Amino acid sequence: MRTHYCADVNETLIGQEVTVAGWVSSRRDHGGLIFIDLRDKDEVVQLVCDPADSVEAHKIAEDVRDQFVLIARGKVRARGEGLENLKLKTGKIEIVVDDLTIENKSLPMPFDLGDDKVNEEIKLKHRYLELRTQKSYDIFKLRSKATIATRNALDELGFLEVETPILTKSTPEGARDYLVPSRVHGGEFYALPQSPQLFKQLLMVGGFDRYFQIAKCFRDEDLRADRQPEFTQIDIEMSFCNQEDVIEVAEKLMHSIFTQCGFDIPTKFNRMSYNEAMEKYGSDKPDMRYDLAMVDVIDIFARCDNEIFSNIAKDTKKNRIKALKVPNGDNIFSKREMKRFEEFVRKFGASGLGYFQMKEDGLKGPLTKFFTPEDIKAIIERCELKVGDAVFFGAGNKKLVLDYMGRFRIHLAQLMGIIPEDKFEFLWVTDFPMFEEEDGRVKALHHPFTMPKTDENGKISFDDIEEIESIAYDLVLNGTELGGGSIRIHKEDIQAEVFKLLGISDEEAEAKFGFLLNALKFGAPPHGGIAFGLDRLVMLMTGASSIREVIAFPKTQKAQCLLTDAPSPVDSEQLRELSIRVRKQLAE
Ligand code: AMO
Repeated sequence: MRTHYCADVNETLIGQEVTVAGWVSSRRDHGGLIFIDLRDKDEVVQLVCDPADSVEAHKIAEDVRDQFVLIARGKVRARGEGLENLKLKTGKIEIVVDDLTIENKSLPMPFDLGDDKVNEEIKLKHRYLELRTQKSYDIFKLRSKATIATRNALDELGFLEVETPILTKSTPEGARDYLVPSRVHGGEFYALPQSPQLFKQLLMVGGFDRYFQIAKCFRDEDLRADRQPEFTQIDIEMSFCNQEDVIEVAEKLMHSIFTQCGFDIPTKFNRMSYNEAMEKYGSDKPDMRYDLAMVDVIDIFARCDNEIFSNIAKDTKKNRIKALKVPNGDNIFSKREMKRFEEFVRKFGASGLGYFQMKEDGLKGPLTKFFTPEDIKAIIERCELKVGDAVFFGAGNKKLVLDYMGRFRIHLAQLMGIIPEDKFEFLWVTDFPMFEEEDGRVKALHHPFTMPKTDENGKISFDDIEEIESIAYDLVLNGTELGGGSIRIHKEDIQAEVFKLLGISDEEAEAKFGFLLNALKFGAPPHGGIAFGLDRLVMLMTGASSIREVIAFPKTQKAQCLLTDAPSPVDSEQLRELSIRVRKQLAE
């Protein structure tokens, strides 16, 4: 239908006839002349309808409105002096239209395309209109590039692309499953995969050596700006490998993807242990684009003359007293603002937030009276304070303090505007604990198939579960968890021991993962892998503010698709076939 895409109509075609096709992004009637900006996938070209050239085309142009679909044939000519628009690739020319067809009309737009302030619900309801914007097209162009770069890079590294089932059994990634009722087996359910974890392990038992998949995953969990119920992973598994092998593949892959997408990143990434990340940054996914690290001051506070602090300082295993220095903070923040910081941390369970200011004549602040001059000096030295700095303290339960001080660090960085927008800071976080306790229950921090580390005798000691570390690693990019993986348990006895610690009985293990345990009995090779969130990767590369922008048809924070109205009730006949009765009070 067209001879050229809009973007390709330029000065080299002056004097030639072209046909372009697309949508009207604007129309201006200047008395005799009608100007139309016609947009196709990625550029706008200016059409001029002049009755002197074609009475008919000009007449049709009078009926044209925004987002009508047009096909226009005409001659390319240079724009007049001073009328060029150098922001456009086509800004030096225009097309004088001889023949104009309205291929389709459009209702008036329900919102201004490209206006960032429009209510997101309206945009999601008409998602195809939002997709018509340049911003969306650029995002999906990059997403396509990243996906193709992934396939090419992994193909070169000897990985085989294999699909795994969508209708399957539950995989334990820590979220709730989406369930699909079986018609044939009334009362029984498939689960949509939270990840292809168990299948990729089975492919290793199957001898495939190196597997990957651009895999759809489904998790029924609380949604946030970087989470969707349905998302895509770049999923990887390899045999006869250790952590270093997986990290090497991952770094090569990231380098290929970013380079193909036009970004310069290092070939190797920094590493930090989970413990260091938590103690310094209060997060297992610290944003390394800025510093603001915490230091431990519990030993100094142990000597102070304030019972609250000295009592907290008695238990150095359970509790923490952390100091967070803000360079020049005393000059930047008013006393009122510092008070408001206390309100901020209280939202996350803090009982207060102490602070000191480093003045010309020494350390000041409501707490100084509790310290000896030597300990004041010790604080100044430990925190490396200079005149004008402020330092904040969090004291109490370790988990709580690390969490709110970590959040406070991010809050401060945002307030101070010290986060560079155009920088990619990758970080490997390694040496995760194997287990964590939540509400008195032992849980696997990654998943229960992660290999625990051995002790100096090459044995796995299951005596003190808090001390057990796993061979697991996360890749963090600018404070977002981009990927995570581990070396897996390939021996049945270790797997059984881990299940026991997790309180999973033999019967439960058999019912849930019997097929995996069985496979481990048939010569399972040592294996491990990793999975990256493709949506998150594209979100970070494009600087999108939410994961929804980089998914063609995303769901809302309430897991609804406003475009199709899913989820929605189904008729009773369908339910009967599936042996399902909906409880009325729940349905209402
Ligand atoms: P994990 O659960 O850490 O590991 O997931 C891997 C990566 O997937 C992305 N991700 C998400 N992205 C968008 N929305 C979500 N709801 C969501 N949940 C996770 C993140 C995350 O880092 N089977 C293991 C991998 C392995 O061990 O090989 C797994 O799924 O970027």
